[in-house]
Amino acid sequence: MTFPTTRMRRLRASAGLRDMVAETSLEARQLMLPLFVRPGVGVRREIGAMPGVAQLSVDLLVEEARALAAVGVRSVILFGIPSRKDAVGSEGYAEDGIVQQAVRALRAALPELIVCTDVCLCEYTDHGHCGVICRGDVDNDATLELLARMALSHARAGAQMVAPSDMMDGRIGTLRRALDGDGFDQVSIMAYSAKYASAFYGPFREAAESPPQFGDRRSYQMDIRNAREALREVELDLAEGADIVMVKPALAYLDIIRQVRDAVNVPVAAYNVSGEYSMVKAAAAQGWIDEKRVALETLYAIRRAGADIILTYWAREAALWLRNI
Ligand code: PBG
Repeated sequence: MTFPTTRMRRLRASAGLRDMVAETSLEARQLMLPLFVRPGVGVRREIGAMPGVAQLSVDLLVEEARALAAVGVRSVILFGIPSRKDAVGSEGYAEDGIVQQAVRALRAALPELIVCTDVCLCEYTDHGHCGVICRGDVDNDATLELLARMALSHARAGAQMVAPSDMMDGRIGTLRRALDGDGFDQVSIMAYSAKYASAFYGPFREAAESPPQFGDRRSYQMDIRNAREALREVELDLAEGADIVMVKPALAYLDIIRQVRDAVNVPVAAYNVSGEYSMVKAAAAQGWIDEKRVALETLYAIRRAGADIILTYWAREAALWLRNI
């Protein structure tokens, strides 16, 4: 049956009808906010390339998380800006490192909040790479041991979830064994499984003060031209014990999110990265687009592609917007 019997506009006629038949939902509980923590007290350092995002000292971080929880967002992922960087990223796995301090403070102040930590050396190394350098290249196996130390120190501080973003081979199995060996079998691993060597991370590198000082990340992050390889990364991470797999970036990789969602039975996360956020902010500041509508359209698109969880800098605003829709 076709026109005039069938009229697609019938179910679009009112907000009530549109809501009734909407295929995709977006809820605060599905959002995770990335937060940047730095040493000090009362410190709020705005990130020029990411309007509305700031590096915060632990005290202000707790306030930010409180405001977030108040609008229904239940999880955060932490990135640390240490006071000192060195060749092996020592501050990343120091028991009193900045992320470890932040985890303890958040867990004490907001016991219900899910505190996830990013596990990667790039914020802590003076060369800005995600692992240790041997003979001019990032050494995979030497890096694994340091990542395990970092994940363990986060778990000891109280993190319920760790998220390795380094893209070394074998890191998921290494972290799972390390965590289990120390009694942290309840700490889950969200693997940045399909993480591409993307130019969309540009603004984040200002936020995390982590640009590589030489070369780029293409010897460990994925080639932007590949899709099948993403499924292989996901498969391997699951075999090694990942609880959640992630696709990153999100918007230019919606096809990958969909393929991963169709291929596995674990929750799929997608990272709506800094560049995706900053482009919208910049265009909105010019009056060229409507930030709220574009941001929500972006988040719905990521959900429609198949993501269960979205890491996004819009988490708090989106939760507020969704309340008033
Ligand atoms: C660390 C890391 C990066 C991002 C998350 N974890 C940067 C990178 O790999 O260069 C990017 C996040 C964003 O752009 O919002 N390895």
